[in-house]
Amino acid sequence: MLSGKKILIGITGSIAAYKIPFLIRLLVRAGAEVKVVMTKSACDFVTPLTLAAVSQYAVSIKPFNESDGKWHSHIELGSWADIFLIAPLSANTLAKMATGITDNLLMATYLAARCPVFFAPAMDVDMYSHPTTQANIQKLVSFGNRLISPREGELASGLSGYGRMEEPDVIVDILNTHFEKELSFKGKKVLVTSGPTIEPIDPVRFISNHSSGQMGNALALEAAKRGANVTLISGPVYEFPIHPNITLIKVTTAAEMLTECLSCFPGADFTIMSAAVADYSPEKPSSSKIKKDENELLLHLVKTTDILKELGKMKKPGQILVGFALETDHEIENAQKKLHTKNLDFIVLNSLNDKGAGFSLPTNKISILNHKGSITVYDKKSKTEVASDILDYAAKLTF
Ligand code: CTP
Repeated sequence: MLSGKKILIGITGSIAAYKIPFLIRLLVRAGAEVKVVMTKSACDFVTPLTLAAVSQYAVSIKPFNESDGKWHSHIELGSWADIFLIAPLSANTLAKMATGITDNLLMATYLAARCPVFFAPAMDVDMYSHPTTQANIQKLVSFGNRLISPREGELASGLSGYGRMEEPDVIVDILNTHFEKELSFKGKKVLVTSGPTIEPIDPVRFISNHSSGQMGNALALEAAKRGANVTLISGPVYEFPIHPNITLIKVTTAAEMLTECLSCFPGADFTIMSAAVADYSPEKPSSSKIKKDENELLLHLVKTTDILKELGKMKKPGQILVGFALETDHEIENAQKKLHTKNLDFIVLNSLNDKGAGFSLPTNKISILNHKGSITVYDKKSKTEVASDILDYAAKLTF
């Protein structure tokens, strides 16, 4: 998987920098092309000469390098790479990445890079556990960067704890898996529904729910990054993912979402319905604002079409259809019922009883249930990581 891949390694000032020549050797041996951009303080831990010798490329440190007399463009480096791996990542550069401070070539390259960015922090245990460092790491993950968590063990300071950079052979495995995953949805047509629907009562009021669309957005983005052609049908939310592989269709009501789904579903290889579709809608929305003349107002609601159930009836062999179940009671039992009645390949269960799961949060905690009665329980994770788990599960089914 690494053969022919272009990997840019960003090295910052941490003692773990001495491991990077070994990492480069492993990557080159696996067929990858490797270039290095490093900070000035990284040069105190490993020499540019060593890195140039193992990578077979001149090392970039400053935009203009006296040694080779060439202009080293941050744009050029970022657009050359299939992956930008920043390892080891010091607390200082981590903080710059979280805030966008661009005072060196490595930082300019990071901000300009369009490829996936992996980062492997390495620092002393107390620096690593400091709330600032932890908040900065979370910030980078929320930007879509991928964390290679440090290990627990002996540190250069003589202390022991979390902060040791992951070992080079494990980093190579992680990058390998990334490229395998990247291919897993290549050319597949993926349909994602997301966000809430809004059902009008009159021109001013409506019925809706708390869905922020974060889970659906994360699914669409992750599928797009893995090479799928994604159609995202979304109810009104504040933010939409931006990726050349994503076609966005904006809808407002459950009826509009149904129309768009019926038209897109026949061409989809993989469909995942994460939208929180209103189950009931006002039967006759008023065309003018309802005045508060009466003491009571009775709204007559009618059931909307269960879109997922309709798609389940239309499903053809080879199509994968997945739903969500948001439950508060008898979670497993209710999710299993939905899995069967809606003719799904698997269902993703969120329980509102789990802390960190559900609407408007950056995290989620899911279980995946399938027809064979298997239940896979996942830890609480960021919605980006949850999206990745769901797509990994789907990829194992057929693709
Ligand atoms: N769903 C749908 N159309 C609806 C309602 C729900 O497509 N009108 C889909 C959701 O996108 C989700 C799944 O059905 O993937 C389950 O939604 P959920 O709200 O958990 O359950 P409901 O089927 O609506 O049942 P209930 O509200 O009674 O739990």
